[in-house]
Parts: sequence; structure tokens; C-alpha cells
Amino acid sequence: MSVYIDEKSRLFCIRTNNTEYQMKADEYGVLKHIWYGKKVGSDMSYLLEYPDVGFSGNPYCAGDDRTYSLNTLPLEYSCEGTGDYRISALSVTHSDGSNALDLRYKSHSVKKGKYSIKGLPAVYGDSEAETLEITLCDTASGIEVVLRYGVLEKLDIITRSAVIRNNGEKTAVINKAASLCLDIPFGDWEWIHFHGRHTMERVPERAPLFYGIQESSSTRGTSSHQQNPSVILCSPDCTEQSGECIGAFFVYSGSFSTKIEYDQLRQTRLTMGINPELFTWNLSAGEEFETPEAVITYSDNGLSQLSHNFHRVIRENICRGKYKLAERPILINNWEATYFDFDEEKILAIAKEASALGVDMLVLDDGWFGKRDGDTSGLGDWFVNENKIKGGLGKLVENVKALGMRFGIWFEPEMISEDSYLYRAHPDWAIQIPGRQPMRGRYQLLLDMSRKDVQDYLYGVMCDILRSADISYIKWDMNRSISDWYSAELPPERQGELPHRYMLGLYSLLERLTSEFPDVLFEGCSGGGGRFDAGMLYYCPQIWCSDDTDAFERTKIQYGTSYIYPVSAVGSHVSTVPNHQTGRITPIETRAITAMAGSFGYELDLGTLSDDEKADVEKQIKKFKKYGSLIHNGKYYRLSDPLKDNIAAWEFAAEDGSEILVQGMIFRTEPNMKRYSLKLAGLEPQALYKMAGTDEIITGSALMKGGILLPASWGDYSPVEIHLVRTEN
Ligand code: GLA
Repeated sequence: MSVYIDEKSRLFCIRTNNTEYQMKADEYGVLKHIWYGKKVGSDMSYLLEYPDVGFSGNPYCAGDDRTYSLNTLPLEYSCEGTGDYRISALSVTHSDGSNALDLRYKSHSVKKGKYSIKGLPAVYGDSEAETLEITLCDTASGIEVVLRYGVLEKLDIITRSAVIRNNGEKTAVINKAASLCLDIPFGDWEWIHFHGRHTMERVPERAPLFYGIQESSSTRGTSSHQQNPSVILCSPDCTEQSGECIGAFFVYSGSFSTKIEYDQLRQTRLTMGINPELFTWNLSAGEEFETPEAVITYSDNGLSQLSHNFHRVIRENICRGKYKLAERPILINNWEATYFDFDEEKILAIAKEASALGVDMLVLDDGWFGKRDGDTSGLGDWFVNENKIKGGLGKLVENVKALGMRFGIWFEPEMISEDSYLYRAHPDWAIQIPGRQPMRGRYQLLLDMSRKDVQDYLYGVMCDILRSADISYIKWDMNRSISDWYSAELPPERQGELPHRYMLGLYSLLERLTSEFPDVLFEGCSGGGGRFDAGMLYYCPQIWCSDDTDAFERTKIQYGTSYIYPVSAVGSHVSTVPNHQTGRITPIETRAITAMAGSFGYELDLGTLSDDEKADVEKQIKKFKKYGSLIHNGKYYRLSDPLKDNIAAWEFAAEDGSEILVQGMIFRTEPNMKRYSLKLAGLEPQALYKMAGTDEIITGSALMKGGILLPASWGDYSPVEIHLVRTEN
């Protein structure tokens, strides 16, 4: 049991193995947020004493008590227009044009199991999970809000989502409905968010909070390369292994907003939800709106613990299907080997080389369909271009299978090229505003995914392709940001619903296809990591992490990604040198080590490698097969900060501590350089560890406090790899 309620004092406590979350409905029915942090076992509301703060007005019900103000108290779900001037979680315009909301406690219930959300991805739990629902009501308008808390006790995970219900008589318009509102009345905090750009995603930035509002968000219709829908608040002394931190990620792939306000009393409020910009939702009488889900965790053992909690819940309770915990196929993708310039002979030649070295799957990337010899045409025409693939897909797949490999294929379902049969037949299916010329991105337009006929068309053509040959994998790409929001099917007052309706349509199509083809592995992609989020991971257990395959840059991208997302979610490939994104030359061993911290593969013409390099590739594949389970199932530790240090290093530790793999690279070698000692993490202090290939036996304590001495480096981007096994003597 994880939900405890004191009916008399109306105190709601959620207790997980190590954390506690408290709320209280006070004498006025206001639901206060009391505590989120370490398990404490006491009602923490004794800490909430407020003075009469100037210009912080008082609700009518408080009479002459000038110390009771919605503008100072920590609140569980803040609203606008009634005296709380901090960030609001919910904003509604009523039929009379007013905007005020005054939510008061109405009822609560506790249910076994984890709630789900209609049409949206969400954490799922087993029978041990619990759901707490607290209903609040604005009596003047009849707007009700059901706050839902899903609890995974063992994982120290709490999920949040809200249902906004219109029990009034007229339509109300939702302008904003956050999934998470978290007030933290105590402590000084810093925040870590993840910014970037195409080919440089999820760069962590850590900064003290400034007074006022800081925001990380996307208005692109995707979660974006530029900001990620995840955030960490941490104490200034928080390190990888110590200190307090609270993390949140959003299970959603569209526009989002994460805001943090540091207020006049040095209190912190965090909200996360659908981005209110370019969003409105008409809620007719009797209707309800369910927000997507936000997931939170707390650690007082530093950032590693926070990451481990998130990695586990994503792998075990968000990813689904056959591949969620299974070994992933090692694949070879032809994109960087051929771009659009291929035919079936070239593809088979790549497959032959790859199969001889032990690769499991060939993935045919962009260019196999319609009129698609470049990126200006063909999107939407999902039928095989037999000028390129002579004999059709069935024959090619059989030839690949004859080499002992499986076959995967690329789609970019949400897109339409103006130069396509599809556009000529259905120009109204493209998102564009009548009377305006739409923005084009990579020359292409978007399909209106909110339309059922569009979803059905895509479902039909994708099913046809998947049934026409033995296809084991789909790469689901999305190569532009969305603009010109307008749906030919929606009335004017509902146009603001399109960004969210687009997501509902996309998720519905993904749900249909993943259920229809449960044996197919889906990999997400959006120009690399432009839609790297927990929403997509619900359908695709791995996502192409970045279009940047340069090993040096990748260590930084994967470092940032690792704060929230598990290694198994990270699609990562060895590519050629000089690298196509940066021109950098790195050793093939280093490229493989970097790609192994992910769902591993290759993306180059193996036929261009020397015999020695081919032998290296063969060894790398064997190595990934040997360590793959440790890499994906083990605990991941960041051992250096590649954004600051001259070394990128990380560790995979078996859950039972029996085995450790340390990998990474030293960026630059200097003459007469002292050898690096790298402090390991997560070992049993008393246990003895033997280093593979030597007779050296070292205690866990020595490895964690003193560190392990790395071999001297040579040249730039020198690989690091050490395997340790626990031994009895
Ligand atoms: C995107 C992807 C690449 C590749 C190309 C094909 O950029 O991220 O991996 O599939 O599209 O056009």
C-alpha cells in the first residue's frame, strides 16, 4: 500500500520506498501541497506558517485573516484570476468571458492499479500500482478537476495527470491545462534542462534559479531538438552520488512547456504540460479533457539514483511489446552509405558484407518508394519504386534473409511532398491555411494527422507494405517542425485544438500499427533526436538519438540523454570517417565504444573498410553480443562530464554487482601525460573485483574512492574499456 489518508485532517500521503508526497485539503477546502521529498512519516504542514505578506490578498472565506493567501501558500493545482499571481496550472475562459477559477476539495478515491489515459501514452503498472484521485470543484462555473496520481512504490515513481470536466451548462474554453504543478516551499534549487539543435541534442545546462520564471519549451508541434520535455531540480551541492534532486519528464511528443517560478518568498513552483501557446480546447457541457502524463521522482542520493529511477520506469513501465527488454538486433542502415543513390544491387552488396561480419538486420532507409531520388518529392507515395528495387521488395527481402539477416524499412508517414501522387489527389490533407502560402521544411508539408481519413490511408498503405514482405523493423521518421496550423475539417473555434488533435491522431495510428504488427520493432526518429521523448518510447522502444554520428560529439549527446532516458532507448551507429557531420576522424574502436552505449548498429559501406577494420567490426559485434545484456539491463553511471573534462567515461554495473564494464574515450593526448584515474560507482565497498586480462584484484571501495588507473592514451579520441568481474578471492 502506498496511499495513506487521514480522513479527519484530510491529509493525503503517497509513500514509495524512499519518498513521500503530501497534500492537505485545509479548512477552506483549498488543496495545499505540503511535501515532496524524503520519506518522513509526519504531517509536514507544521512548516507552513506565513506572515501577512504585502500585496498578497486574501480569499473571502478567510475573513479578516490577512496571513491566509493563495499567493503565498503552496498549492497542488494553481489557477488564475483568484489571487495567486504565480504560474497557473489551469486557465479557462467561461461562457461569460471571465477567466477566474477557485478550485476547492470535493472528494477523493483510491484505486488498485495505475490509471490510463484515453488515446495517450502513459505509464502502466501491475496490480501493485495504486491510483489516488482527488476531485476539486469551482462551484461558480461547475468546472471540476480530477487530479490523478499513479504510484509505483518500488520504483519511487509518481505520475500526474488531470481531468478537466465541464459540469456547467455552457461551453468553456481551456487555455492551459498543465499535467504537473509542484510547489516546493523549502530550499534553494538549481535546475538542469536539456537544450540543443539538430545534430546536437540534449545538452545539459545547470543553473541556479533566478527570481521570476524560467522556461524550457517547444512550440514546434514536436518535443524538439531544441528543448527536451524533461527537467531536474537539484540542491546546489547535488552531485552524481549525493544531494537532493527532483526530476520530471513528460509522456508527450508535441509542443510542451516546463516552467519554474522562483517567487518573492524564495519558493519554487514547477509546472509541466502541453504548451498553452497555439493551444485552446473547447469543452462543451458534460465533456472532459484528459491531460497527458508527467512522471516525477526524487532522490537524496544524487543524480545517478534519479536517472536509475527514470531508466527503470521507462524501460519497464513505458516501453511496450516484444522488444522492450529483449536484445535488440544489431543493424546496418544504408543512409550514410548511399543516401538516395542506390539500387537493389548496392543494397545487397552492403547486406552481404554485413552478414559476413555478424550483423543481424539490414535497414533500407529513405528513397525506396514513389518518386524519391532526392528530398524534394515522393513523400506520401508509399509504394515501392521498382526502378530502384528491381523485382520488388519481396524479392529483396528474401535475398537479404538468404544471407541470414532480417530486414527493416524507413517511413516518414506524417509527411507529404507537393510533388507526389498523394498531394495531387488530396491537397486538403496537407496542413496549410487557406489564403496563405505554407512554410516548407526540407521542401515538405505535413499531413493533417487529426483526420481519420488520413490516419486510415496511412494505416492501409503501411499495412500493405508490411504484409508484402517479411519486414521486422520500421524506422518512423519526422523531418520538420510544424507550422501553419489549420485543419480543413475543424470549425474556426476549434482550430486551436489541432496541435493536440495531431498528437492524438499520431498516437492512434501508432497504436493500431504496433498492435497489428507486434513482432515488428519500431524505432522513432525525427532528424535524429527531434522527438526523443517518453511519448514516442511508448510505441518505439528505441529512437535514433541524433543525426550526428561523430563519436566525439555523440558522447556529449548521449551523456545529456542519459540523465532521463535509458541506454536501450538510444539508437547509435558506427559511421565512416571523415565523419559526414563534422569531418572528424576518430578510431574505429572508439566509434564502436560510443555506439555500444545504445541500441547498436552500423551506418556505412562496410565494403570500403580494410581487412583489418573488417576484423575489428567482427570483434565489435561479438563484444556487443557478449555485453549487450549488461549494457541494457545494468545500471548506467556517468563517470565524467564530457562537456568539461578531457575524457568521456561511463559505467554499466550489473544489478547484482557481479560485473562492471567501463567504456569511454580520452579526447586529447598530451605529451608526458599523467594517467587518468577514474572513480567508479555503485560497487559493493567490501567486494573484490578482478580486472579482465590481468591478475589485479581490487576492492570496490578502492575502485570507488581511489579509482581505476586507465592505460596511457595515444593519439586523439583514444578508446577506454575495462571489464571487471566480482571474485571471491
Ligand atoms: C532523417 C533521419 C536520417 C535519415 C534521413 C532520411 O534525417 O534522421 O537518419 O533517415 O532522415 O531522409
